[in-house]
Amino acid sequence: MSSTRTSTPPTAAGSGASASAAFRAGRQGRGTVETSTERADSILRALLGAVHQVISDHEVTYPEFQAAKNWLMEVGEGGEWPLFLDVFVEHAVEEVASRSQQGTKGTIEGPYHLPGSKRLPAHCELPRRADEKGTPLSFTGQVRDVDGTPLPGAEVDIWHADADGYYSGFAPHLPEGNLRGLVVTDDEGRFSIRTIQPAPYRIPTDGPTGRMIAAAGWHPWRPAHLHVMVRAEGHRQLTTQLYFEGGEWVDDDVARATKPELILRPVADGGGGLVQRYDFVLERD
Ligand code: DHB
Ligand code: FE
Repeated sequence: MSSTRTSTPPTAAGSGASASAAFRAGRQGRGTVETSTERADSILRALLGAVHQVISDHEVTYPEFQAAKNWLMEVGEGGEWPLFLDVFVEHAVEEVASRSQQGTKGTIEGPYHLPGSKRLPAHCELPRRADEKGTPLSFTGQVRDVDGTPLPGAEVDIWHADADGYYSGFAPHLPEGNLRGLVVTDDEGRFSIRTIQPAPYRIPTDGPTGRMIAAAGWHPWRPAHLHVMVRAEGHRQLTTQLYFEGGEWVDDDVARATKPELILRPVADGGGGLVQRYDFVLERD
């Protein structure tokens, strides 16, 4: 029974519905923003102007316009907007945010963060199944301020896909909280987390986003990555991802969210596993 369940991948509609629910239940203030009429006017004019320009430049036809309308409706009905926007648009917003950011580079959050992960001590193992597949990975480091001061009690909120590329909370066959944890740094701001190396992630291909990707002859892959949000009192929250040197899709991420500073080069631990040290540097609020 469990082997058939394990082999059932989540559907686009399933992942979309879970991602939409997670977004709506997310941090306070999501979904509304105070914007002046002047700013709304200029952004919306520019946005619609860009769409009109594409239509004009490419001489988009009525059948193409109606197909696009139908596709947009399906993305909404399938709950796929969080997936679509985080893959194809978030990197541009993050690039703007990162212009003013010092310390460790950030990158996109993506749709699969869940608040309220289990709090774990600084030196810990992420919750995993008894038979969790994948190369063991020991991920260690220190959280510091930009001036080098270690930050004890900082939160390293970490989540990643399993060795099949699926995230707990968004794939029905995975136990709740699997490969997720909120790790609190020790007196010296240090942490060491035992987990497994994730696999590359494929955005679901059975829904409208997948159809768009296929229609354009693109690929649906993201390189294997660890997601982290690092928080410390009085400091700007860091949201980032770490990738693995030489891994598939590292140089061709569908979400365009890799950065050279975020590529890990783990070393063998002599017992079949990998070790990686990576320090996080936060700027003051
Ligand atoms: C998506 C999934 C991810 O795991 C990620 O890191 C970014 C985007 C997505 O399917 O939208
Ligand atoms: Fe991800």
